[in-house]
Amino acid sequence: MALEPSAETLEKVQEILKEHEGNRGHLLIVLQKIQAIYGYVPPFTFEMVAQALGATRSEIYGVLTFYNRFHLAPRGKHTVRACRGTACHFKGAPSIIETIKAHLKLPPGKETTEDFLFSLEEVACLGACGISPVMAIDEETFGNLTPARVTEVLSRYQVAAKPAAGVSGGAAEGQSTT
Ligand code: FES
Repeated sequence: MALEPSAETLEKVQEILKEHEGNRGHLLIVLQKIQAIYGYVPPFTFEMVAQALGATRSEIYGVLTFYNRFHLAPRGKHTVRACRGTACHFKGAPSIIETIKAHLKLPPGKETTEDFLFSLEEVACLGACGISPVMAIDEETFGNLTPARVTEVLSRYQVAAKPAAGVSGGAAEGQSTT
């Protein structure tokens, strides 16, 4: 879940920058540490990083866009990874992905839901081709999906996120890939 910038988080960023001050070669690790605080790398930190490490803003942006582990916008609490690999594609991945987007009301180009409960990533293979089509939510993998099953699983997470719903226990059970 993304954190809003606050005095406390800003202090942590400043500590990181102090620790790596003048070390332009530490850019990757510094950005990773900042992302660990906020869940993404907030644009307001770019100038701070640039000044502390002696890097340019374009170097920072280059690193952030080259490595897909970095996020430039706040992320949802849960990450849904939908497989669009070959095995999943032939078992109906396109309709699975469409169902996810429709259920989460994600318009084209948007990957995080309005309530920041989910972020969607489309991936090349989740390593579970034998149970395709597949999606993963955080560390749980769901295989042999149908659109109805997708809706059911996502709904369970949504219900679990509502405190008033009184749902106990884990949000959903998954199917291990190993
Ligand atoms: S292609 Fe989807 S899990 Fe491998």
